[in-house]
Amino acid sequence: ASAARAYHDKVIDHYENPRNVGSMDKNDKNVGTGLVGAPACGDVMKLQIRVNNDGEIVETAFKTFGCGSAIASSSLATEWVKGMNVDDARKIKNSDIAKELSLPPVKLHCSMLAEDAIKAAIANLKEKRTEAGAQN
Ligand code: FES
Ligand code: FES
Repeated sequence: ASAARAYHDKVIDHYENPRNVGSMDKNDKNVGTGLVGAPACGDVMKLQIRVNNDGEIVETAFKTFGCGSAIASSSLATEWVKGMNVDDARKIKNSDIAKELSLPPVKLHCSMLAEDAIKAAIANLKEKRTEAGAQN
């Protein structure tokens, strides 16, 4: 019972007080944007990271059009990756998020959305940097 209780508290806390909701300029060369959709339900998540010159994530933002678990997963993900190096952020697994929030199996794809969004944001940043580098 206490496990179920903890699950509700954490999901509801992130759902009611989501961290880092918002948007950053996607054209900023230090901002990576990941936009992903969940085939299972059609929900959409946008997650953004701002990285400094050392590759450290200094700012995060997200917008999620989806269920409470997807909102909680993205909120938690933006908290976790802040202060991380991109290489460490890329290692975050949806199972870590699902475990922290104690998501039931039927909601696992919601946390998958967060993992995918982090990876997509990092990939977008790398793409931008490669393009910028190629111009020099
Ligand atoms: Fe789409 Fe969760 S099924 S909101
Ligand atoms: Fe589809 Fe949560 S993202 S039910």
